[in-house]
This record gives sequence, C-alpha cells and structure tokens, in this order.
Amino acid sequence: MKKLVLLISVSFFCLGATPQKYSQLAKTPPMGWNSWNKFGCNVSETRILGMADALVSSGLKDAGYEYVVIDDCWQVSRDENGEIVVDKERFPHGMKYLADYVHSKGLKFGIYSCAGTLTCQRRPGAFGHEYQDARTYARWGVDYLKEDWCNSSTQDAKSSYTNMRDALFAAGRPIVLSLCEWGANKPWEWAGTVGHLWRTTGDISDSWNSMINIFSLQKDLARYAGPGHWNDPDMLEVGNGRMTIEEYKTHFSLWCMLAAPLMAGNDLQNMSVEHKSILTNKEIIALDQDSLGRQATCYRDNGDYQIWVKQLVGNEKAVCLLNKSDEKKTVLVDFALLSQIGAGRRSGSTQLKLEDYRVRDLWDHKDLTLKEPSMYIELIPHSVKVFRFIKK
Ligand code: GLA
Repeated sequence: MKKLVLLISVSFFCLGATPQKYSQLAKTPPMGWNSWNKFGCNVSETRILGMADALVSSGLKDAGYEYVVIDDCWQVSRDENGEIVVDKERFPHGMKYLADYVHSKGLKFGIYSCAGTLTCQRRPGAFGHEYQDARTYARWGVDYLKEDWCNSSTQDAKSSYTNMRDALFAAGRPIVLSLCEWGANKPWEWAGTVGHLWRTTGDISDSWNSMINIFSLQKDLARYAGPGHWNDPDMLEVGNGRMTIEEYKTHFSLWCMLAAPLMAGNDLQNMSVEHKSILTNKEIIALDQDSLGRQATCYRDNGDYQIWVKQLVGNEKAVCLLNKSDEKKTVLVDFALLSQIGAGRRSGSTQLKLEDYRVRDLWDHKDLTLKEPSMYIELIPHSVKVFRFIKK
C-alpha cells in the first residue's frame, strides 16, 4: 500500500510538474572556459582534457572558473534514429568520457548546440530534436548548454528557446541554459524565465574596438540582470594576443563590473604570467561574483571618460573610472561624492560617508591614502581604475 501511495505521488509530481528552467542554477554569473574564441572548430578530446587539467594547475579553478565548454564542431551528423553523432576522430571516447573526466577534476561540463536546423558551422542543430538531445545530454552528464541561433529561418526566438528549456527540464538533469541569439530579439525582455544567461550582441573579437563597442551596448541593460538571469556580452578575449595588457585589464574589469558571465577563451596551456594574473585577480572577480547580482550602471558619461558604479552586498560598492580615449587623462575624483551615490533609497540602508569606508585599488591591491576627499588620478589610454568602497 505504502509503495502504491509513493508511486501515485511520484507519478503525480512528474506529470504535473510545470516545465520551467532550473532556478537554483547560476545564482552568480557562470565562470569557466570555452573553446571558440581561441580554437574555433579545432576542438578535440586531447585539447579539452588538457584544458581541464590546465584550469586546475593554473589556479583558475581556485579563482572560481568551473565550466569547461566545447563550442561548435564536436558533432557531425545524426544516425538513423535521429541521435546526434559525435566526431569520432576528434573525440574517440565520446562525450560521457569527457564529462566524467571533467567531473573528476571537480569541474563542470558544457556543450554547444543551435536552435536552428544547423549550427553556425553547419553541423546538425537541435531543431526538431530538442527532447531527444536533452535526454542525450543528461545521459552524458552535461551541466551547461550554449544554444546558438544560426539557420533558425522564421523560428520564433522565445518559443524555440522555451522548447529547449522544457526539454532540459523533462530530461531531469539541472543544466544551465545559455541563449546565444546575439540580442536579435531583445532576449533581456523575455529570457529571464527561459534561460540563465543571454547574449546581448554579435560576436566579440580580440580587438579593443570590438570589446569597447560591445561594452557600450550594455549601458541600458542593467535592470534585466540578477541572480539566475544574466546579460552576456560574450566570452573573454583576455590572453588571445591582440590587445595590450592594459586593454585586457580594462576588458576584464568592465566584464566584472557588468556582472557578466566570465568564460575565458584563451589557450590555458600556454598562458603568460600577465594574462593569468588578470584572469585570476580575485578582488576584481569578487565584484562579478557578488551575491547581490547587480550590473554596474554609468554614473557619469563624459564621452571618452566614464564613471561606472556597481552596488555590492552590505552597502559596499565598486567604482570604475574608464578612459576610452587614445590619450592620457588626469581627472579630479571626488571620493566623498562617490561614497554617497547609490546607497540609501533602494537598499533601505542608512547613507554612509567617506569616513565609513576604506577605498581599495583592486589592481594595485592597496588601500588609497586620501589626504583630501578629492584626488587627482591619472588614467593612461584605454585603461581603468577600479576601486572598492569597503565598510570599516
Ligand atoms: C556564433 C556564436 C559564437 C560561436 C560560433 C560557433 O557565431 O555567436 O559564440 O558559438 O557561432 O560557430
């Protein structure tokens, strides 16, 4: 009898469960590594195993990077039952083997598909196979799915991605759903209940102009981000070689100010000390991973010179001074004023003053010695200064 009651209640639960996204995932922006920016279609089992090892040995795992994601080109066709077929030459042991290895390192495993009929590299897409693929991914032990938007013809974006959300839910394994429709259908307006992150723009490339243009497009999106639902300005280019160290520091700082997903996209097995120290700056990463989950807003916009502010838990905040220009700038910064912005009203907390904080430079890893409430700060071209107002 007891067994019967259990069976009935289990079936009732399974049949009656409303499809939804796994809401307990991505409470802070997902962090990890993705193959696309550096390797494109040149992915293989050896490479992914090597990256999982390097994620651990480089210290990136300790800094919070968790997901190892294979982007496009791991799949070649579908078999007579419609099952997705893995490229056997590149991945001789299949995907479950990789997932198990990645898990054995204390990391999580991610994969790529596309809502259209074909991926952007013309491999089989998920269209019409969503439930079948979701079951396959669950069987393999996938933890993260990036779903692209190529070859989607007249498909409706919201219903296509909702279909994959429901398929993942039905497959029963919690999988982060990363929407990659490039902001084409304003996903920030509808994707909060569909996925955990959504691309807001076209693809990033490893150049200052690409990075800073994408950053500028995030300006009005702050209100859509929060725990479990993030704007995604695309993956990191830090370490890929076509920006200067200063520009990579700026790129990384801005992404952390935006509470952006932090997907490293460089060759972790051949990483310079400077690039590694950018990707593992824990004080900057702490801004990104702050549990309040607020995206920074632009407080002052003087064109080439901007001030961005990100509210943090416990009435703390991060302030980022950005010099977008090709020339050095010397700016008079009023720390007393900065200490007061943002607090109060929304958080319901009392207004704090400069005396209540120490101000820490998160790239110099030093507290500022403020003789006056205002101070001249020098910003070299394409650079940032990032300060954290830490409560005393
Ligand atoms: C699109 C995506 C990229 C990458 C490629 C793979 O361009 O936006 O991030 O996944 O497809 O083909």
